[in-house]
Amino acid sequence: MSLVKKLYENRNLNDEEFLELLSDEKYDTELREYAQKITQKYYGNKIYIRGLIEVSNYCKNNCYYCGIRCQNKNVKRYRLTKEEILDACSNGYKLGFRTFVLQGGEDPIFDTILVDTVKEIRNTYKDCAITLSLGEKSYEFYKELYEAGANRYLLRHETADSTHYNQIHPENMLLETRQQALWDLKDIGYQVGSGFMVGSPYQTNENLLKDIRFLQKLQPAMVGIGPFLTHHDTPFKDMENGSYKMTLKLLSILRILFPNLLIPATTALNTINKEGRLQGILSGANVVMPNLSPENAKSNYNLYDNKLITGNESAKLVEELNNELKTIGYEVEVARGDVKKLF
Ligand code: 5AD
Repeated sequence: MSLVKKLYENRNLNDEEFLELLSDEKYDTELREYAQKITQKYYGNKIYIRGLIEVSNYCKNNCYYCGIRCQNKNVKRYRLTKEEILDACSNGYKLGFRTFVLQGGEDPIFDTILVDTVKEIRNTYKDCAITLSLGEKSYEFYKELYEAGANRYLLRHETADSTHYNQIHPENMLLETRQQALWDLKDIGYQVGSGFMVGSPYQTNENLLKDIRFLQKLQPAMVGIGPFLTHHDTPFKDMENGSYKMTLKLLSILRILFPNLLIPATTALNTINKEGRLQGILSGANVVMPNLSPENAKSNYNLYDNKLITGNESAKLVEELNNELKTIGYEVEVARGDVKKLF
């Protein structure tokens, strides 16, 4: 039996087999075929859409890879108001979005308006999911936000190897804290999303194997991955970008391992290659997250260079996306798009 078929049938492999799979491109086509078959089985040709709202680019952290790290003095910082966020939701709702994702840096000042903002979105859009992606918070604060109406939380684990974690983060950030936050979110009842960058500096295939093992333990509802891309104002400015092919391959592996997983074709993937979004879907992704942020926010939320602007304010946003998806036989689903039960 081929290694890929074995992965498909067992939804697992041993360490040695995973490393073999990761190290050789000869498996890529077969991985993609299985991944597509599984996505079709669970989600048909429907792609879920999420409206991304980049609420603040202030961040107290200093991650070596990230363009909005606190030590980058060249960022024009902004913080949206509750009204601006509600406007973005209103615009998105009319376009057909039924999930709003509030994403931002770790910004304690933004936190002071967060509960109120979540409550108001919840009261206005009862049929929508609210996703937060705002970094590490205390158990109590996560709980307060959940009770205010948030349903989902995205927090990439970034890397499951502690040595590697310390190579890409400053000393005050710890793998244990990050992973504990994910367990806290699960415990509270959030649908949890995790993920990592592909080809982040110093990453090895052994690290990627650990990422897979961590995800198998965590059993998240969503996993976001994208290639690492350099940003000119970070310590990693001269590092190499992550690999496009490796990202597609990992999307397929994730789909086969976790058949019902919600997997976005990320902006980073679409930035590294203009076919990225469609190829990501053909490799196993089933979610896209167009940007609903106001224009000034979009142009200042640069985690990496040349970040693609994937949404526009036009009433045609979803129609255009739908037309793009139709070229590969898929279409947008107007729905909250919760995770399906595993058959
Ligand atoms: N390249 C690619 N992805 C990045 N992220 C942050 N900086 C970069 C970069 N330079 C990712 C991180 C973070 C998510 C919001 O964006 O994984 O969790």
